[in-house]
Amino acid sequence: MTTPRPETLAKLTPVLTKRWLSPDAWRIGTYEKLDGYAALRKAFKAHPDDLIQLIKDSGLRGRGGAGFPTGLKWGFIPQGDGKPHYLVVNADEGEPGTCKDLPLMTHDPHSLVEGVIIASYAIRANRAYIYIRGEAVHAARRLRNAVNEAYAKGYLGRNILGSGFDLDLVVHSGAGAYICGEETALLDSLEGFRGQPRLRPPFPATHGLYASPTVVNNVGTIASVPYIVLGGADWWKSMGTEKSSGPMIYSLSGRVVNPGQYECGLGITLRELIELAGGMQPGHSLKFWTPGGSSTPLLTAEHLDVPLDFEEVAAAGSILGTTATQIFSDQDCPVYATYRWLEFYHHESCGKCTPCREGNYWMVRVYRRILAGQGTHEDLDTLLDTCDNILGRSFCGLGDGATSSVTSSLKYFKQDYLDYIEGRTAPRLSDKQLVGA
Ligand code: NAI
Ligand code: SF4
Repeated sequence: MTTPRPETLAKLTPVLTKRWLSPDAWRIGTYEKLDGYAALRKAFKAHPDDLIQLIKDSGLRGRGGAGFPTGLKWGFIPQGDGKPHYLVVNADEGEPGTCKDLPLMTHDPHSLVEGVIIASYAIRANRAYIYIRGEAVHAARRLRNAVNEAYAKGYLGRNILGSGFDLDLVVHSGAGAYICGEETALLDSLEGFRGQPRLRPPFPATHGLYASPTVVNNVGTIASVPYIVLGGADWWKSMGTEKSSGPMIYSLSGRVVNPGQYECGLGITLRELIELAGGMQPGHSLKFWTPGGSSTPLLTAEHLDVPLDFEEVAAAGSILGTTATQIFSDQDCPVYATYRWLEFYHHESCGKCTPCREGNYWMVRVYRRILAGQGTHEDLDTLLDTCDNILGRSFCGLGDGATSSVTSSLKYFKQDYLDYIEGRTAPRLSDKQLVGA
């Protein structure tokens, strides 16, 4: 185990995670003692438009993966249109490797509830929803308890804290479909339909829930809002980089000594994160990793010093995504890892469009052949050709995301594929596993 150097430890910036280790921070009494709901009182003294401007000034970008500017999104909500407005929190965290929203909702659910109230006030929404992943039973229980406590204390309901503002907040559990994390599929699911993506544009900002203006934001995005209201835009921008401001929760998994969540300013490097996590496990050296979950192209040991912000990761050929850094070593196989991710995408494809539905099905079959020692050199061309027909031709991001690990593993680790095809690596799958993709 490596002990982090003081200069690396100083890169930890506990903001959203600061209450996680306080016992009972999920209870309203403890939350209030730790500054809880102070931001809401401050926010009610401001005009809603000034709050939107504050979020714009802070440079906060969406924490769900796309990094869209939050203040800009709030500003898209038409005002004086006579329609109801909605805030929907996307808590359907399901990207393989991603684990930042569930611990936040479990340890500090009131920070999300407080963020929801401030954001709803800013966009003039009187009804908000938190759509949480069906499997996240414990987090949902904590969240529902927090919502009930907030109603009992007058932070939700009619005339909140005498402000004249009304808000109802509903926690809705999904049924465990990854596609319902796609914002328009989520809205369909919330309306009671089968969760499948809608055509965009129009975007939810104008045609969202029940065809009304809707802001859909990730848990981390909304939970950041109370801190920005209390600390100000300049304080928020003092963390992170010029275009990627603020702290970010990086979830580290895989071959490090202490996997878990590390909150640091955007722009920290993987080398520093691994140091914070106690180093690589004994006997392992880094081979490949995902900067933001399985939908983001793999990077390698060459990229250890890439600043992990939206711009620099893109310049390195990947996507920051959900900052789910999954770390693999020389004892892990990029071909097998890619196959396992593809099985996931194949299983979770909603079936609405042909490139994703059929392409992932075929790619799983090709991977099984390669891993069973029956692959051919042509299979590698077939994989690239299939990716070419999925990427940019699918109806939503799930199809595109499925190709990321295929094309990047072929770019960096073609030899690992050839070792299966040419018989230097022993098959990992049996003949029996060839069927049934
Ligand atoms: P996107 O870039 O298409 O949109 C981002 C947000 O900006 C959306 O809310 C969209 O409505 C809004 N937007 C974009 N252009 C707009 C416009 N002209 N007018 C109004 N609003 C506009 O990205 P998308 O497809 O919503 O999300 C993709 C990301 O999701 C990926 O980067 C991936 O990392 C992430 N993801 C996260 C998962 C998780 O578990 N957190 C799971 C799977 C993917
Ligand atoms: Fe459904 Fe896949 Fe098409 Fe998205 S890309 S609409 S998940 S079939």
